[in-house]
Amino acid sequence: MVMIGQRLAIKAMEFADIPAVRAIELDVFPTPWPSNAYHRELSGNRSAHYSCLWSESELAAYGGLWSVGEEAHVTTIGVRRSDQGKGLGKVMFAALVNRSYALGANFVSLEVRPTNEPAIGLYEAFGFKVMGRRRGYYTDNGEDAMVMWSDLIHAPAFKERFLGIVAGIDVPGLGQPPDPEWPKD
Ligand SMILES: CC(C)(COP(=O)(O)OP(=O)(O)OC[C@H]1O[C@@H](n2cnc3c(N)ncnc32)[C@H](O)[C@@H]1OP(=O)(O)O)[C@@H](O)C(=O)NCCC(=O)NCCS
Repeated sequence: MVMIGQRLAIKAMEFADIPAVRAIELDVFPTPWPSNAYHRELSGNRSAHYSCLWSESELAAYGGLWSVGEEAHVTTIGVRRSDQGKGLGKVMFAALVNRSYALGANFVSLEVRPTNEPAIGLYEAFGFKVMGRRRGYYTDNGEDAMVMWSDLIHAPAFKERFLGIVAGIDVPGLGQPPDPEWPKD
């Protein structure tokens, strides 16, 4: 079970959360999004879904995705520096994948720096695989992006792994996990 002793909760990101999100973002990302990006995402992007993970009434992590057809594309995930390595990233990412199921997605994709071992380790723990590279994607240092994809999220092996992870997470707001029996094959 993740973070025994801490009261955690996942909630949809609201405009009022943006300053706290920005504070984490500025601290943990080499190239933070422009200051108005979250306002734009929350107000003007109907395919965007952003959530926050609260710990004892403080914003500890956030993440989001775009739902585009059968694909859910994770646009960002960040955990407050002082809380990294304690399982919160796993909770936040599980919430994003769970949301992908709820949105009717078939696949989840994302970009990650090849040097970002904690993030790659996190995604691999969910069964994501490197499927491609975008040359010079990161503008700060010209680093390539690795493009990682889930398998079909309804495939039995992927879903069983996911349900196993979610079974160890008791956090309000995570949402109903996918039906283990659906779709039947
Ligand atoms: C990447 C990030 C979200 C991970 O969150 P976290 O809370 O630190 O990660 P967790 O403690 O939940 O760890 C979850 C899994 O990730 C992997 N992981 C975490 N830290 C790792 C490390 N230093 N090296 C390798 N794998 C690591 C492990 O598989 C771990 O599972 P385990 O503890 O059961 O082995 C967080 O470090 C972060 O915010 N980094 C800065 C922003 C960023 O890079 N975001 C991703 C952009 S693509």
